[in-house]
Amino acid sequence: MENVRLEISAPLARVTLDRPAKLNALNAQTIQELSQAFAQLREDDAVRAVILTGAGDKAFAAGADIGELARLEPIAGRDYGLRGQALFRAIELFPKPVIAAINGYALGGGLELALACTFRLASEAARLGQPEVKLGIIPGYGGSQRLPRLIGPGRALEMLLTGEPLTAAEALACGLVNHVFPAVELLPKAEEIARKIAANAPLAIRLCLEAVRRGMETNTEEALTLEASLFALLCTSEDMKEGTRAFLEKRAPRFQGH
Ligand code: COA
Repeated sequence: MENVRLEISAPLARVTLDRPAKLNALNAQTIQELSQAFAQLREDDAVRAVILTGAGDKAFAAGADIGELARLEPIAGRDYGLRGQALFRAIELFPKPVIAAINGYALGGGLELALACTFRLASEAARLGQPEVKLGIIPGYGGSQRLPRLIGPGRALEMLLTGEPLTAAEALACGLVNHVFPAVELLPKAEEIARKIAANAPLAIRLCLEAVRRGMETNTEEALTLEASLFALLCTSEDMKEGTRAFLEKRAPRFQGH
């Protein structure tokens, strides 16, 4: 892969957008390589949590590649949108947590990518925005849908309609990111959080992701039914027996992921 770096150090994996000369802008090749990286990580049982970040000290990703966008005809534009949407949806429904470590600009498609992740951390210098209307377009990778669901329609619409980015502190205040760290601490802190998650029962993590992600997209009645079904499924797992037994025996659990 040319524009994406994949490093696996089980139980963690790091995916780095690696096109720093173009502020890690998401061209078609990068989207394709990201799809490849996540397909590989999905199949790797040793990987329990993924950190997604950008190379260099300026950007997570400064958006879709505007050079490519400028050449799009309607049918190609539709395919372009659908390919990115499919990747971002796969990340949103990924069976392991994907933590976005936003190390600089997260604009346009870059913010949309971060929005598809499980949650977001940012460095103090991060700037997060949806500037599409400045280019005569609207977000095409889910930003007009995920942003209002995360921070509420009022704040989202101000971002979407002005196109102006938020500072890291402003993003923290509205819940767009969970924590803000000095730049040098961003990846170590992301790893610290990822390790805490990776130490928990893998099946429980997977089904918890599913309960929240699917549940948020349906009504409360159906979501509670889903929760009960997933809870019941976990009652059949070895890890549930081990986790509860370890607590009663006052020892650390040894989870196997089944
Ligand atoms: N697509 C393609 N190339 C991009 C890009 C994008 N989204 N964002 C930045 N780049 C390229 C620049 O063209 C430049 O390339 P060059 O050196 O070959 O000319 C390089 O990355 C560095 O960017 P530059 O604009 O010189 O950096 P800056 O520090 O002056 O400004 C930004 C940084 C993020 C404010 C500015 O690059 C920007 O506004 N980018 C576009 C953001 C955007 O609208 N994204 C939404 C797209 S839908």
